[in-house]
Amino acid sequence: MIPSLKGDAEYMIELLKNIIEMIPDAVMVADKNGNCIMVNQAYKNLSGLSEEDVIGKPANTDIAEEDSVLIKSIREGKEFFNLLRRVGPDKREVLCSAKPIYIKGELVGSVGVMHDISEIKRMSRELEHKNMMLRTLESKYTLEDILGNSEKILKAKEEAKACARVSATVLLVGESGTGKELFAHAIHNMSPRANGPFVRVNCAAINKELLESELFGYEGGAFTGSLRQGKKGYFEQADCGTLFLDEISEFSLSAQAKLLRVLQEQEIMRIGSTVPKKVDVRVIAATNRNLEEEVRRGNFRQDLYYRLNVVKITIPPLRERKEDIPLLCSNIIKRYNQKYGRGINSISKRALEILMAYDWPGNVRELENVISRAIINMDISEKEIRPEHLPELVDNHGAFKQIGDGDIVISLKGKTWNQVKREFEKEVLKFFLKHKKSKTEIARQLGITRRSLYKKLKLLEENQIIE
Ligand SMILES: Nc1ncnc2c1ncn2[C@@H]1O[C@H](COP(=O)(O)OP(=O)(O)OP(=O)(O)O)[C@@H](O)[C@H]1O
Ligand SMILES: [Mg+2]
Repeated sequence: MIPSLKGDAEYMIELLKNIIEMIPDAVMVADKNGNCIMVNQAYKNLSGLSEEDVIGKPANTDIAEEDSVLIKSIREGKEFFNLLRRVGPDKREVLCSAKPIYIKGELVGSVGVMHDISEIKRMSRELEHKNMMLRTLESKYTLEDILGNSEKILKAKEEAKACARVSATVLLVGESGTGKELFAHAIHNMSPRANGPFVRVNCAAINKELLESELFGYEGGAFTGSLRQGKKGYFEQADCGTLFLDEISEFSLSAQAKLLRVLQEQEIMRIGSTVPKKVDVRVIAATNRNLEEEVRRGNFRQDLYYRLNVVKITIPPLRERKEDIPLLCSNIIKRYNQKYGRGINSISKRALEILMAYDWPGNVRELENVISRAIINMDISEKEIRPEHLPELVDNHGAFKQIGDGDIVISLKGKTWNQVKREFEKEVLKFFLKHKKSKTEIARQLGITRRSLYKKLKLLEENQIIE
């Protein structure tokens, strides 16, 4: 301490007050009983509370949920960093850090700093949304980009061409990586709506609670956290164009009911509104699940399924059109040559035989991965892809092996998130069935109910855990 100030308590307090006023983050100081003795202006701005509301009151007066970090640090005598709390009447989200204050070894109180993150969160949500819009509002591919001369792919392309002319809803069905997104783009580009917007919604990537407001939009003030001026949903954004609903099986039952209504009436109702709005949108839906099965299990509405199923295009898996592999390979190599300035001009007979013998559970996407990994393994002077460049190709059934007791290894090669999840679940169940005696015991160890264990086992029996 500066010697000349020693003993001048009033002076010190004024100095301290001025210092904490200058701190841009919200600051609160509490005495050893956990009562608030000091706050700064930033605190009052953040919490929306006045000095009268908090001074002399317990330091948790401002906390909407959970306990006070200041009181916690006094009680436990230690520092805490960045604990999430909500403060004030508006329940602003803050990160709160607090530290006990010791003077001459005696605990006299604590000091806390709060950092408002609601604004950062709002901005990052907005940014995410803008990025998504940038990606979704353009349609890149045409029918020529869908490669293959096999009978099955040609049939699918013919069907796409035929349905493009009309505005009927289309359902694209195919395993992961077969080209559903490519087909959706191509149909849009061949349709009379080609100059309108193409909006892609990945239903699996959007939080289930948010999906409805994202799709149908909302009126201003429809719910807490909503924008004051309201928001257009994807249906309105796709007006006069195409809305591509990818992974439609991820729709909740309530969103399904609303979607059915929109398809039937061609009008939407924003959340919080009572006035329907006309929209002119062609819907293309895609799924890699068996929707009939989902209907049977009660996860998908039958009426919506019939409605979507009017025009259904089944995209064949790569293993059913292996004759297209050479053409796909040469196209992939050409693209990689351009992208990375390489001069690869062929693929050896033996390497091609290996690729033709494999079943490609991850379809064209997996083939792209394998070729790109081979190219990475090649010396810059090499011109031909040979077997030694190829990564090891392990099919679905050989992909797992158990190492230690209770350890499971899964190959991630060319698999989607959902495939990995399901395959993992299957292995876990198989492991427990082999090692445990009773179902009750398994359920207890996994921390799930017996009912949900039975459900999972039933799926395993029917072999539907794996797509
Ligand atoms: N017939 C094809 N010709 C050329 N490239 C293709 C073909 N089919 C798929 N691809 C390519 O394979 C990759 C996966 O395709 P796409 O994203 O359309 O698959 P998807 O069926 O939507 O898969 P998922 O169900 O995992 O979303 C893309 O890079 C795409 O360009
Ligand atoms: Mg896709």
